[in-house]
Amino acid sequence: MSKSKILFKISGSIAAYKSAYLISKLVQNGFEVKTVATESALKFVGNATLEGLTGHLVYSDSFAEGEMMSHINLMKWADLIILCPASANTINKLANGIGDNLLTSLFLAFDWTKPYLIVPAMNTNMFNHPATQSSLKKLNEWGIKILPTAEGYLACGDTGRGKLLEPDEIYEYILLALNQKNTEPAKRLKVLVTSGGTKENIDGIRFISNLSTGKTAASITDYFSRRGHNVTYLHTFDAAAPKSNCVNAEYMTFSELNALMKNILGKENFDVVIHLAAVSDYSLDSVETGDQKLVAPLEEKIDSESEKLVLNLKKNSKIIDSLKSYSKNKNLKVVGFKLTNNADEQTKVSMVQKLVDHSNCDYVVLNDKSDRNENVQANFKIFNKTKEIGSCETSTELAGIIEEFLINTL
Ligand SMILES: Cc1cc2nc3c(=O)[nH]c(=O)nc-3n(C[C@H](O)[C@H](O)[C@H](O)COP(=O)(O)O)c2cc1C
Repeated sequence: MSKSKILFKISGSIAAYKSAYLISKLVQNGFEVKTVATESALKFVGNATLEGLTGHLVYSDSFAEGEMMSHINLMKWADLIILCPASANTINKLANGIGDNLLTSLFLAFDWTKPYLIVPAMNTNMFNHPATQSSLKKLNEWGIKILPTAEGYLACGDTGRGKLLEPDEIYEYILLALNQKNTEPAKRLKVLVTSGGTKENIDGIRFISNLSTGKTAASITDYFSRRGHNVTYLHTFDAAAPKSNCVNAEYMTFSELNALMKNILGKENFDVVIHLAAVSDYSLDSVETGDQKLVAPLEEKIDSESEKLVLNLKKNSKIIDSLKSYSKNKNLKVVGFKLTNNADEQTKVSMVQKLVDHSNCDYVVLNDKSDRNENVQANFKIFNKTKEIGSCETSTELAGIIEEFLINTL
């Protein structure tokens, strides 16, 4: 169990109640947590909750008897400092060197070798305010990690930027910051991830698809985004959504995905495509009902009177084979995925080789459907063009391995 010490600072935002869940998760996972709260923060979340969860007094008063030096000592004690939620007011104070309470004074005593995360939470106008934006920019330039905000429904009734990131996602950022204190990636990559299973339209209501959930793709996207890479996520409407902020575009059919990739790779300079989309090998050609043969997809919903319905399919090309020719960047790397269904080792290896041969992709990730637990894929093997070069259990580990290979070869 990790024994890292987290100094958890809370300022006055309606999202402060979410920090209680995050603190509880940290404590349950073996972290030692001490909290520092502003006066306003304590109007949103109580001393009893914070002390009960952490087993430590809540620090709030700079001049509390016996704690007079806590603005220095707590900073020395911590391995990582997080301000969550970060109010607009406190962000603006930090960026201007104001130390008028314990939380802000602690920042003036900050030891710059330690990771410091700021997780903003506020109304969209407060977030977009030039003062807040310029403070965030300044803090970021000083080396403070500013986590993205989520978009969505805000307590004030508006919808937009400024919403606190989900606590489970913040937790992942904490782990990453602790593991990689000084190991920022050597390069920032521009990454295109495809996700979900294509849907081949029969009649505008029904379609043919596959079991792809998009969960591995979303997890890989989150890893790359958290590491500061620039990620674009192409997904079907039902694919899992990444928690991190990235550029999104939706597709449905093989043809739509093909056109989207051709367009985007031709326009923008991507370093890599991580192609997890499960693309249909066939699309609908025609539908036979009774004595009628109709060109598919049909404009109107097929009625269910006919005893027999015949779907004629036509073969699609392999999108992965064309990615390098679509790409403006002629040094594009392609990571392909091969899912097998209870295949033996020899079959798996020959399927990987076949994929490399026809697509000229640089890496192939092999996984088998039997390694899916509750729809979450585990156990991945990674191959280059000639041999197996790594294996891992989880999608986050997989993302780390892919990142390392890419950075070493690009
Ligand atoms: C109900 C309510 C909700 C608030 N929510 C937020 C918020 O989400 N983000 C924010 O920056 N300020 C919010 N504020 C305003 C801050 O609490 C206020 O600016 C306060 O002075 C911040 O103090 P602090 O930064 O010292 O914690 C809210 C105020 C109220 C009354």
